[in-house]
Amino acid sequence: MGIVPLVDTRAHFAPQGISDRIALAFTRALRFVADRFFARRYGHRAIVLETVAAVPGMVGATMTHLRCLRRMEDDGGWIRTLMEEAENERMHLMTFIEVAKPSVLERALVIGVQWMFYLGFFALYAVSPRTAHRVVGYFEEEAVASYTAYLAEIDAGRVANGPAPALARAYWQLPEDATLRDVVLMVRADEAHHRDVNHGRACALDGRPFDPERIAPYPAKAPPAPALGASAGPAAGTRGRLAA
Ligand SMILES: [Fe+2]
Ligand SMILES: [Fe+2]
Repeated sequence: MGIVPLVDTRAHFAPQGISDRIALAFTRALRFVADRFFARRYGHRAIVLETVAAVPGMVGATMTHLRCLRRMEDDGGWIRTLMEEAENERMHLMTFIEVAKPSVLERALVIGVQWMFYLGFFALYAVSPRTAHRVVGYFEEEAVASYTAYLAEIDAGRVANGPAPALARAYWQLPEDATLRDVVLMVRADEAHHRDVNHGRACALDGRPFDPERIAPYPAKAPPAPALGASAGPAAGTRGRLAA
């Protein structure tokens, strides 16, 4: 099996101003709602929350793309980084849809919330990109906590540790006998990486220092095949972006 990167599950970015505090309060409010709605149904929680988690990267990529077109300037690699984040979150969704089946209510919730969240996040990004990235950083802190709790449920035997879905094995390059636990470890490492990248981006946009060495390593993965055989091209690492 591929190496599971070590994850600092307790990493927390201490808020350093009103923008950070708003981002943290918003995240805590959403966490409260998610805890009431899903309780310990972590498979269902993952499905619904991943449909939300896959939105900010695409919004950030779109806004960065448009800004670079307007200003006729280079993006520093951020468009591709943020698009990859959105794709990675969608792969989390495609994985957990194999593990748990969403209820009709959960599907309705996803449809009802998607445009509200998309437009809300778009507006936030237009007004304050640094707050938007800080919100994602805090969302990802919660995602790490949530997947840590999911692992505890598996380890306690309350959630069956069944075989990893084939799609997940292919994506994270896992062996034939990989289990759900192996997949959740990979997903949690992805979330830790997103957490640090987004906190780093928020700091960079705010003119604050952020050590690229703090970024949690990203598990190796095989990106989905491009449509009609078109070349996806090489994707560069993220550490360089923040170091640049
Ligand atoms: Fe995710
Ligand atoms: Fe994430």
